Amino acid sequence: MVNITGYKITDVLISASQINEKVSQLAREISKDYENTTPIFVTILKGGVIFLADLIRKLTIPHTIEFMAVESYQGIKSKGTIRLLYDIKNEIKGKDIIILEDILDTGLTLDYLYKHLLYREPKSIKICSLLIKDVEREIDVHVDYSGFFIPNHFVVGYGLDFNGYYRNLPHIAILKPEENE
Ligand code: IMP
Repeated sequence: MVNITGYKITDVLISASQINEKVSQLAREISKDYENTTPIFVTILKGGVIFLADLIRKLTIPHTIEFMAVESYQGIKSKGTIRLLYDIKNEIKGKDIIILEDILDTGLTLDYLYKHLLYREPKSIKICSLLIKDVEREIDVHVDYSGFFIPNHFVVGYGLDFNGYYRNLPHIAILKPEENE
């Protein structure tokens, strides 16, 4: 394969079938918890789209989806700031919101989104994150639906990218600089 980034994919951390099983389990749990309501799933572009696409097709409840876009990351290190690039246009007041995030790292993004959405007076907001990185977080984020707890590596695949690449991998893999090999 052409190496486009100067980094290489090493270990497969989570296989496609493990992801599939976990997404099914999360969808079952959420469908049960929200059986009497029609929640709005809010996903952050672009990383969360594959997770969203898979999860909603396994839900058994009526729901709608919305997208938001923020900028928080450049390359392999967080910039430590969040900039809102695209917001939800529809009314969310009085609605049940579930934020679907691909990965919780520093917590900056989810903390920002939670507070931003709360300001628009929804009935409830819950957070579902497919991956949770094992790092010491200065920001305390409560995740209601958790997928996998992973060690502190930079990972790609299943929507997660490095400089825009690798989102298409069906599994989650660790990305390392080539010179380390
Ligand atoms: P946080 O604000 O530090 O929690 O980071 C959340 C965002 O950073 C995620 O939505 C991802 O876009 C990105 N991110 C954090 N860790 C990784 C990683 O290991 N691989 C790819 N993107 C990551």
